[in-house]
Amino acid sequence: MTRAYNFGAGPAMLPESVLEKARSQMLEFDDAGTSIMELGHRTAMFQEILLKLEAKLRALIGIPANYKVLFLPGGGQGQFSLVPMNMTKHNKKVDYFVTGIWSERAAKFARRYANVNIVTEASLSSIPDRSTWKLQNDAAYAYYCPNETINGLAFPDIPDCGNVPLVADATSSLLSENIDISKFGILFAAAQKNLGIAGVTLLIIREDLLNNSIDETPEVFNYAIQAKENSCLNTIPTFPVYMMDLMVDWMIDQGGLPAITEINKRKVGKLYQCIDSSNGFYTNPIDKRYRSQVNVPFTLPDDKLLNLFLAEAAKVGLRYLNGHKLVGGARASLYNAMPEIGVDKLVSFMHDFAKKHR
Ligand SMILES: Cc1ncc(COP(=O)(O)O)c(C=O)c1O
Repeated sequence: MTRAYNFGAGPAMLPESVLEKARSQMLEFDDAGTSIMELGHRTAMFQEILLKLEAKLRALIGIPANYKVLFLPGGGQGQFSLVPMNMTKHNKKVDYFVTGIWSERAAKFARRYANVNIVTEASLSSIPDRSTWKLQNDAAYAYYCPNETINGLAFPDIPDCGNVPLVADATSSLLSENIDISKFGILFAAAQKNLGIAGVTLLIIREDLLNNSIDETPEVFNYAIQAKENSCLNTIPTFPVYMMDLMVDWMIDQGGLPAITEINKRKVGKLYQCIDSSNGFYTNPIDKRYRSQVNVPFTLPDDKLLNLFLAEAAKVGLRYLNGHKLVGGARASLYNAMPEIGVDKLVSFMHDFAKKHR
């Protein structure tokens, strides 16, 4: 068996040690006499995993005490509907930054529940100057996607929306770098990038924002109810939670967010440097001020070369480098589990490929 370097955007690569640990506990978790997948979510053993996981996440990310931590089903896109459902009981005015495919879809889903004002509509490659933003100072919340996974565009800073609670879809950026949670009202991330596997979404919410849900909100998706029930109103996705726990332990072992931030800066710096020094053989279409630090899209001179590039890269163990079908080209996603050596190998392959086919 050869494990490749998986540059896919998600479900993403996991550290081998995490997979090994899961394998070693597959038949029996500790002395439970059963696997984690067969263990009741209300057993003392599982509840202890959950409690400890929350404590570790609070320490790792720096989640203040006045925030609740929820583990919810429904993926990232589930939150596109659940955020407006949970936030617009008293005020239907909401602000959306549209900077790519994901925030555009979130704005679209929100229209069913709220009056959506578009603060700014970016091209897929840049963000308009903040002097042009149309923020409402009486909105129920302002929503944005810090890192657009598909087009590879990111906000360099957290946008200042005054007293309006800021909601962030941090699915592809949470845990990639240090972040000040106190600047947010809500922050959510589906787990399948930096937090393990698909099936659970981490949602961090400031306590005073609970209890704003419209009456139609299903109980299992109601933030206030799930906060009261410690995310266990119904059966929590136990295996994805367990995998998140293993990922969190692994990130702590890496030295936590300060160390991870440094490694990630080096990784992405090497890749952009390779693209920028290729004399136009590879191009990243994003305004340099707004380049993603996680998902790096790039194009080659033509489709024939692109297909050859993808095929030859796969042969040397550099896989899933194809861009999203909506934007085409190639894309390398550099989540935490992608080791620096994987990026070094990619960069070296890209240099050689360009030299040969220029
Ligand atoms: C930024 C962002 N938001 C939302 C989603 C959708 O997540 P899900 O497939 O879990 O609904 C993705 C998936 O890649 C994403 O990258």
